[in-house]
Amino acid sequence: MANIVIVGTQWGDEGKGKIVDLLADLADVVVRFQGGNNAGHTMVVNGEQFISHLVPSGILQKKICYIGNGVVVDPQVLIDEMDYLTGRGIDVGPERLKISELAHLIMPYHKLIDVAREHLMGAQKIGTTGRGIGPCYEDKISRRGIRFVELIDPELFKERLLSFLDEKNYYLKNYLSTAPLDPQPIIETFSRYAERLLPYVTNISVELDQAISVGKQLLFEGAQGTHLDIDHGTYPYVTSSNTVSGNACCGSGVGPGRITGVIGIVKAYTTRVGQGPFPSELFDEAGDRIQQKGAEFGATTGRKRRCGWLDMVVLNNAVRLNGLTSLTITKLDVLGGFDALNICTGYAYQGKVLTEFPSSLKVLSKCKPVYETLPGWSEDISGIRKKEDLPRNTRNYLNRIEELSRVSIGIISVGPGRDETIVVTHPFS
Ligand code: GDP
Ligand code: IMO
Ligand code: MG
Repeated sequence: MANIVIVGTQWGDEGKGKIVDLLADLADVVVRFQGGNNAGHTMVVNGEQFISHLVPSGILQKKICYIGNGVVVDPQVLIDEMDYLTGRGIDVGPERLKISELAHLIMPYHKLIDVAREHLMGAQKIGTTGRGIGPCYEDKISRRGIRFVELIDPELFKERLLSFLDEKNYYLKNYLSTAPLDPQPIIETFSRYAERLLPYVTNISVELDQAISVGKQLLFEGAQGTHLDIDHGTYPYVTSSNTVSGNACCGSGVGPGRITGVIGIVKAYTTRVGQGPFPSELFDEAGDRIQQKGAEFGATTGRKRRCGWLDMVVLNNAVRLNGLTSLTITKLDVLGGFDALNICTGYAYQGKVLTEFPSSLKVLSKCKPVYETLPGWSEDISGIRKKEDLPRNTRNYLNRIEELSRVSIGIISVGPGRDETIVVTHPFS
């Protein structure tokens, strides 16, 4: 039996949704463990596209999907997503979707604070998704959060809301110059959310433990990427949760001894949305070409993604931080048509070549990529389903990634569709 964690190795949008959907085929349960609706995970099945922000990407494969305690949930967004999926013929009833009673709620003031703060910061802004993610995690850590277990108890919800709202309103009004919030409409709206979501709320740690004990296989779906991790990423240009594999345990209530493998999703090049350093970023025609061919627009905010070459300093950092047991390379098809491809193998900094990802943003922002150049390929590889059928130069590119990372590639994605995939080794078989 296998219980596998999927994480992004770069700055998010590596194609985690597609791979979770694909692998969910042989899993029984899919668990989101961190982040919120800052995530946008895209699945394409039989030519139909689905984007999920909160509901785990296993829902299309009719698996039991859990929203873990480590996730921050905007109830309106969740309800809208459930309605959208239902409208497209997907069952998202309480037998299919379960929400941890310990998951925190994104409140209206979290969204207002996120947006107003970014506005105030001007050029110094983080470039957040504006969904209230950071302020919600702040309240969780400072013990001013409201969880599902309080949402479903109207008295408790009201009591908790009223105990913080004065402070929030003082901050909104006097620091952020925005209108304060009236508690009554919040109480009414959230009591409707409670009614709708009550059947879904459960102790997921207990349920997942029972599932494992009867031999079910779990797939943990990470959001964002390793370099957006609150501890290990390019702080402060990060998200507000731990995105690394270790958080699959904290964010779901499953102990580390139960995890049997960790798959790192690696885009064949690199992208980033929002502000923050990005050493292998391209500002030339090659970057534009990748952006256009890869349709690199954010699935959540529609922003153009910044594009650059594959960066092995970044990937090797992710290999160590997540304990990766296998890699999945995505969007390899997008690199077709280049005469030559660059792979960043180190950073030139003050006369030295660094191969470990620097912690100081000041250092990182002065690093210049050191490239190794490999020959490209001109063939369209999107119809290929066996590794040995890939062009020689494509296989060379993959072999070099394996050599430089010392981790083998188990899956190669050559298009957005579920079937546009070469599975070398399936983690559940
Ligand atoms: P996630 O946040 O990691 O799930 O990734 P996103 O869904 O935000 O972004 C990945 C984008 O690339 C989506 O539009 C996918 O449909 C698309 N995609 C995934 N894998 C491939 C692939 O191998 N080739 C191409 N061309 N597109 C892909
Ligand atoms: P998925 O799961 C790419 C980025 C934002 C911003 C920073 C902080 O689709 O890979 P936040 O709203 O989280 O406080 O924003 O993190 N970011 C993502 N970038 N993919 C994501 O998710 C992201 N979620 C957050 O652009 O730079
Ligand atoms: Mg995304």
